[in-house]
Amino acid sequence: MTTAQTAQFHPDGRLRHLLTLEGVPRQTLLHLLDRAGQIRDAAVGRVSRREVLAGTAVCTLFFEPSTRTRSSFQLAAMRLGADVLNFDASTSSTRKGETARDTLKNLEAMGVRGFIVRHPDDGAVAALAAEAGEGTALVNAGDGRNAHPTQGLLDMLTLRQAKGADFSKLKVLIVGDVKHSRVARSDLHALRTLGAGEIRVCGPAELLPGDEVTAGCIVGHDLDAMLEGVDAVMMLRLQRERMEEGLVPSLEAYHARYGLTTQRLRRAAPDAAVLHPGPINRGVEMTDEVADGPQSWVLRQVANGVAVRMAVLEHLLG
Ligand code: NCD
Repeated sequence: MTTAQTAQFHPDGRLRHLLTLEGVPRQTLLHLLDRAGQIRDAAVGRVSRREVLAGTAVCTLFFEPSTRTRSSFQLAAMRLGADVLNFDASTSSTRKGETARDTLKNLEAMGVRGFIVRHPDDGAVAALAAEAGEGTALVNAGDGRNAHPTQGLLDMLTLRQAKGADFSKLKVLIVGDVKHSRVARSDLHALRTLGAGEIRVCGPAELLPGDEVTAGCIVGHDLDAMLEGVDAVMMLRLQRERMEEGLVPSLEAYHARYGLTTQRLRRAAPDAAVLHPGPINRGVEMTDEVADGPQSWVLRQVANGVAVRMAVLEHLLG
C-alpha cells in the first residue's frame, strides 16, 4: 500500500480519514454502504440523527468549484447535528496567498474536527491529512484526477439499488474521459474490491489512462460494441478544457462517437442503469432523453450522496 492508503487508517484498522477507496477492505466498504442504505431508507431529509455530531464542528474546505458534493456534505453534516462552516478559496485569504496547510491549522485551532477537502492537485488532500492533528479527520472530496471516494461509494450504493448487492455477475461500462477522472478511479477501486463480474472502459484513445488504472478491465474505443449486454453504464463528464488541449476535436464529434442516445442504449441489457456524476453536459455525454429517461439513475445518485456522506462522517467523527 502507498503511504496515502495506509495513512487513512488507525493502527487498529479503522478508518481515520477517507482519502481514497484504494486499499479500503471489502468489509469496510460493505459496512459504509449498508449504513448509507439504512440512512437512505429511513428517508433522506426526514431522518433525524442530530445527536451524532452535536457539538462537533465540520468545515467544507473547497479550493475548486462544486455543486453536488459540497451541498450534500453540508446537508449530511447538518443532519448529523454538526456545526458546519463553509470555506471557499475564492473569497478567503487563499487569495492573499495563505497556504492550504495554514488554513487547515487555523481552522483546527478554532476547534474544527472534520474537514471535507476538494483540491485541484493530485495528492493534496493526503498531504493536508499528514499535517492534521490527532483528533482531526479529513474526507477527500476530490483531488485532481486522483480520487473522489465518496462519489465512488455513492455510485456503488446506486448500483446496489439498481442491480442488487451481488456484483459478481454485473457487467459495468465506464465511458468518457477516464484519463482525467477521479470519479472513474474511485469507481474502479470500489468495483474491483466489491468483485464486479466484468468492468469495461471506453473512450477515445487520447482520453484513456494507462494500464495501471485499467488493469483487469476490458478496454475499447467503440461505444456501440462496448455497450453490448452491460447492466450499468457510468458516463463521465467531458471536461471542456480537453478540447482546448486538442484531445477532442469538437463537442459534436465527441457526441457522435461517445454520446449515449436512446438508440444506443438499446444495445445494453434491458433495464441497464445509466449513471453520471454530474455536472452533465447535455447533448454531449448523453441526450436529454437518456438523462431524464426511465433508465437514468442520475438523481438517485445525488440523493444517495447525502446518505453516503452521512455514513462516512458518522464513521469518522461519530
Ligand atoms: C465530479 C468531480 O468534480 O469530480 N463531480 C462531482 O463531484 N459529482 C465530476 C466532474 O466534475 O466531472
